[in-house]
Amino acid sequence: MDSFVIQGGTRLRGEVGISGSKNAALPILAAALLTREECVIRGVPDLSDVRQLCSLLEDLGARVWRDDGQGLHVKVEDESRCLADYETVRRMRASICVLGPLLARRGHAEVSMPGGCAIGDRPIDLHLRGMQALGAKLGLESGNVIAAAPRLTGTEVFLGGPFGSTVLGTANVMCAAALARGTTVIESAACEPEVVDLGDFLNAMGARVRGHGSPRIVIEGVEGLRGAEHTVIPDRIEAGTFLIAAAITNGELTLRNCRCEHMLAAIDRLRLIGVEVERRDGAVRVCSGRRLNPADVTTQSYPGFPTDLQAQLMALLCLADGNSIITEKVFPDRFMHVAELGRLGAHLRKEGATVIVEGVRELIGAPVMASDLRASAALVLAGMVARGQTTILRVYHIDRGYERIEQKLNAVGARIQRVSDNAS
Ligand code: UD1
Repeated sequence: MDSFVIQGGTRLRGEVGISGSKNAALPILAAALLTREECVIRGVPDLSDVRQLCSLLEDLGARVWRDDGQGLHVKVEDESRCLADYETVRRMRASICVLGPLLARRGHAEVSMPGGCAIGDRPIDLHLRGMQALGAKLGLESGNVIAAAPRLTGTEVFLGGPFGSTVLGTANVMCAAALARGTTVIESAACEPEVVDLGDFLNAMGARVRGHGSPRIVIEGVEGLRGAEHTVIPDRIEAGTFLIAAAITNGELTLRNCRCEHMLAAIDRLRLIGVEVERRDGAVRVCSGRRLNPADVTTQSYPGFPTDLQAQLMALLCLADGNSIITEKVFPDRFMHVAELGRLGAHLRKEGATVIVEGVRELIGAPVMASDLRASAALVLAGMVARGQTTILRVYHIDRGYERIEQKLNAVGARIQRVSDNAS
């Protein structure tokens, strides 16, 4: 398993190109199962989660390949296999996004029930409720959900849950409804830009989706879908992580391929903390002085502050001039990074779904353990500003969601070395 060895105390300066969005790419790639014609998806980042999904698509009878221009091609050749097994779903929970496409196109889907994970319980009841509302018969066998319906029927589906809507649940219902008989209305749909991107891709395939980006999505089912070409949106979470990277190191970065309109809540909080963020010639420039103000931040579904940036922002607020309050409203248990940041000298107190962050003057390097994707990013950020050396174990978590992160950071002044330890 690889580790990162980080020498802290460097200021980042320069330009960074933001990759395509992982969370947009995954459901879009799964949606390519809705047709036998070839789909070409551009801007798909080269990440272990993407490779994992591509290998699942291959198991499900698709041919998947990258062209020289880095377009990712998906062409279904065999529609007889319908199983996403436990090994696959355990390794990548987003595998659930094949459920809707398989059911809609093949009339049958078997997907292993995801168990818990490092960021807490992650139920799929809303996904299943959506499939059932569309007319699927559901069963559970050997830990696999079995969904079947010769043809789905459009209906009204309410996707609000105790923690807001569901992003991949909305994606699954959109895909399923695209080939259903009649019209489906999703109420309390997720409004995330990644859902909008999926709707645009489905429409390019010949679907009739409108209202995506709002809590009410209307999908008129069609008889068939064709192949399409699509470029995924830039990754707003990677961009947000780099904004915080500039801020935490008192640096100055210019981000290319970055959509500010997808990041307004994060930019708003950063400005409040004292970070300068400005749009300039289609890019975003970020810089920060020494003093950071404390802030109150509550994660929410889009357009609120994203849970996927909570850990990274916490790393930044560890060094603010005063006390901050961070409340997690999307995944209330998503605080595995708290103890690890504590090892670097942060003063944090967790009370339920809230963490009180008492700003300290400095962080001090130490060995720490990456627990999940975004928590690992927070540790990298903290390691870059900590005095001395920080070693982050188990960085495979970060490789799931950040394309060449240490190379990108090193190119603008960080000192991060990847160490492979084949013995562990
Ligand atoms: C997606 C993102 C993930 C992000 C999350 C929230 C991908 C691949 N992943 O995950 O990075 O952190 O959105 O923005 O796009 N819930 C239920 N029942 C369900 C489904 C979800 O109660 O059937 C709950 C979850 O436990 C959570 C909340 O709803 O508390 C939001 O989860 P959801 O939007 O579904 O997350 P994902 O789509 O899995």
